[in-house]
Amino acid sequence: VDESKLVNRPPVVTVMGHVDHGKTSLLDAIRQADVAAGEAGGITQHIGAYSVQTPKGPITFLDTPGHEAFTAMRERGAKVTDLVVLVVAADDGVMPQTAEAIKHAQAAGVTILVAINKIDKPGATPERVMQQLTEYKLVPEQWGGETIMLPVSARTKQGVPELLEYIALQAEVLDLKSNPETLAAGHVIEAKLEKGRGPVATVLVEEGTLRVGDAIVTGIHYGRVRAMMNERGEQVKEVPPGYPVEVLGLSGVPVAGDEFNIVEDEKAAKEVAAHRAEK
Ligand code: GTP
Ligand code: NA
Ligand code: MG
Repeated sequence: VDESKLVNRPPVVTVMGHVDHGKTSLLDAIRQADVAAGEAGGITQHIGAYSVQTPKGPITFLDTPGHEAFTAMRERGAKVTDLVVLVVAADDGVMPQTAEAIKHAQAAGVTILVAINKIDKPGATPERVMQQLTEYKLVPEQWGGETIMLPVSARTKQGVPELLEYIALQAEVLDLKSNPETLAAGHVIEAKLEKGRGPVATVLVEEGTLRVGDAIVTGIHYGRVRAMMNERGEQVKEVPPGYPVEVLGLSGVPVAGDEFNIVEDEKAAKEVAAHRAEK
């Protein structure tokens, strides 16, 4: 690694937790936008990826669904991330997907920050949640442990600025750097086929700078990056490390969780993809 080429990159934070504990609502509170209200039944169907500007700099958030059917997404989320924000509803406590998220984060060696959500509710018992979490080796700082546990409310936004502060602090400690000058690489966060747009992949750029025109290969699919859109739907020409972006131009719908690479030219991308398809 050429140290002189390394520059700071935003932390990648995955929000995990049991179904309906308020992950998407908390992200909305962070983004000051109301996407959860527009979701059918309030269920997150896909992982979402957003870059958010905070007073301490940009932070990239990945949202994951808490539904039990989405184990693979939680596992993958834990792997591509620098930090996990574990959302636990203060009125519900630790539930099966809470425990599963902890397991994935601990297996990946990722620091967990706990957001004890819904503290605005009358039945909220944050101390009970803290007590329950000690059974998973997560001991709150207040009790002499090492885990940050913050009472928050996605509804009233109480604790949200503090949560962002702690994420930024933790990111500083991790001293996250990446080389923007190499060929881009990262992971596919989600992918789908869209009418009129073709295969659309949301990718997280982890190293290098991704540019329109780049020859891309992921799994058995390849192509030339035709266009890129950020989370606000704005067209972007290049994306530095630590940021998510929607990519158009792939030959097919890639598998979420797969790595993507930029190669010399489209011929090389096609060859790599064809070689993989033969196996
Ligand atoms: P999945 O993605 O389906 O796992 O759910 P989620 O964890 O993203 O939860 P979501 O944000 O969809 O919120 C679930 C429900 O809890 C919604 O009705 C929210 O309005 C509500 N909710 C979320 N946060 C709070 C909060 O801080 N206080 C209160 N009172 N309700 C909340
Ligand atoms: Na929900
Ligand atoms: Mg959600």
